[in-house]
Amino acid sequence: MSENHTLTVENINLVHQEALHQLASVTSIAELDKIRPDLTGKKSPLITMLKMLGTLNPDERKALGGHLNKVREEIATALDKREHMLQQQALEQKLQQEKQDVSLPPRPDMVGKIHPITQVIDEVRHIFSKMGFQLAEGPDIEREYYNFTALNFPDDHPARQMHDTFYLPTSQDNPELGAVLLRTHTSPVQIHAMRQSQPPLRILAPGRTYRCDSDATHSPMFHQVEGLVVDRNIHMGHLKACVIDFCQTFFGISNLKVRFRPSYFPFTEPSAEMDIGCLRGDGKLKIGEGNDWLEILGCGMVHPNVLKMGGIDPDQYHGFAFGIGIERLAMLKYGIPDLRAFYESDARWLQHYGFSPFEKPSSMMGI
Ligand code: PHE
Repeated sequence: MSENHTLTVENINLVHQEALHQLASVTSIAELDKIRPDLTGKKSPLITMLKMLGTLNPDERKALGGHLNKVREEIATALDKREHMLQQQALEQKLQQEKQDVSLPPRPDMVGKIHPITQVIDEVRHIFSKMGFQLAEGPDIEREYYNFTALNFPDDHPARQMHDTFYLPTSQDNPELGAVLLRTHTSPVQIHAMRQSQPPLRILAPGRTYRCDSDATHSPMFHQVEGLVVDRNIHMGHLKACVIDFCQTFFGISNLKVRFRPSYFPFTEPSAEMDIGCLRGDGKLKIGEGNDWLEILGCGMVHPNVLKMGGIDPDQYHGFAFGIGIERLAMLKYGIPDLRAFYESDARWLQHYGFSPFEKPSSMMGI
């Protein structure tokens, strides 16, 4: 760099040449930033010369000032151009380095799994869809009326009590709604379904249910699947055949032993619980063997009062209903020992007990 900053056309041209030369020699933005003060900074020859303009007489100033300003602009443009070019170069280099190899196989540990609850609901839906059942839904937040009253629960039934049921704060805006709660079972969907369409009905309603209960075998949120059939001349034989068929298909055991025990639900009459044969021993449980019994579902013939509440004439139509716990089905079929693990969202648990979206159990293959 010339140290002689005397204002002459030659010196201005020298500074110009020098600046262009320096710009041409930098090869990165970092280098460019380093020389930037030398080119256009306060102490650069260019700015020093501009300051010197003030010491000249008007004629000289006019003559040299025009030239100096032109050079200043040219240096600024050259700097911008060089900067843009280097940025472009850096970007292209980055793109080259970060190029993805799309032919690489995906990492196996990145593949997600289907949760056992989802899997079992899919299997149950599949089996009942082959029997002509259609999917129905109801809300998780339900009116006490649908959860209890319309299902023939007397006003003083213990299940209605606060310690069994999660009640929500009552809405002052809609007093006609009555008490509102988290549904304690999927049975209120029976009423919704009957009010939505006329018989014949074959509906299946899987979903979340809630009870104030939490220990190794109870969770405050769990899943059930409700089944409801209403038609003319429906009787207990239809109910038994339907749930036996389901269990045999679901567990893949054609000679599965079952028994029906009399039971009580306010919304069915008669009511029963169905057990399946199993073998207990060494802390393990085997379905389809041995002489022990395990409760698997609740069921019964729809109570005439419930049909009436659903807008159906009990003299013309009869129905049956059943409710099955999804978690229990999953634990039994897939040997999952602990109920609480279902809701802990532990990715390692899901890797172990989850299902590949591509592999379907035999119960879902063509029947
Ligand atoms: N809702 C009952 C329960 O949660 C199960 C059930 C459903 C029983 C339908 C009979 C008929 O225990």
